[in-house]
Amino acid sequence: MPKIQIMPSILAADFGCLAADCKRAAEAGADQIHVDVMDGVFVPNISFGPEAVRVSVAAVSIPQNVHLMITKPQNYIQIFADAGSDTIQIHVESQCDVEETLSAIRAAGKRAAITVNPETPVESALPLVEKRLVDEVLIMSVHPGFGGQKYIAAVEQKIAAIRRLADWVDIAIDGGIDDQTIVSATAAGANLFVAGSYLFRQDDMAAAISNLRKVAEEHFCRSIR
Ligand code: DX5
Ligand code: ZN
Repeated sequence: MPKIQIMPSILAADFGCLAADCKRAAEAGADQIHVDVMDGVFVPNISFGPEAVRVSVAAVSIPQNVHLMITKPQNYIQIFADAGSDTIQIHVESQCDVEETLSAIRAAGKRAAITVNPETPVESALPLVEKRLVDEVLIMSVHPGFGGQKYIAAVEQKIAAIRRLADWVDIAIDGGIDDQTIVSATAAGANLFVAGSYLFRQDDMAAAISNLRKVAEEHFCRSIR
């Protein structure tokens, strides 16, 4: 059974104290650090490059979950692998040969993940799961590009479809996750939770992470067990 994990997104960190904010998340009990890489073309925003992954790697010992919102991820796999990524997530909507790029991630010794935007049908990811070309599927529950957006609950149908197909795969959800939205996301079958603005605005991040974990463990796959 996949393990429940909480992944703070450092897009919501204070960029002036990035290393300290990565440490803050790890010390609060985060399971992985989620790094949002944006190129200003695939999404209408520019955020981090591989240097941010290096900063996080130097600051914490938990894994780096690196979300590439970039048009040509195939050109950057080795760069992000060398920077210290543990999981590399590419978008099914990006301009690449998806199967080849996922293989390149694994050939670099990293966990491969496919990401699906809110308007993209889940059918684009199902064959990749069936062929076991991915370790993780990331379902976007906001339009990628910015933190602090409203959760789109309709994407939970996609989580359920993937979970029905594979009990072994990690299913991550990204966007608008808080102590309310996590309930139905985890009931649909998600087990990895990215949370940016919700966690970084807490005075007590450790309490918030342990509460998210507790709520998720209570509700995981309740509807499909
Ligand atoms: C959006 C990013 C998310 C973002 C989530 O493009 O992929 O990881 O940081 O932020 P919140 O949790 O604030 O919705
Ligand atoms: Zn993300």
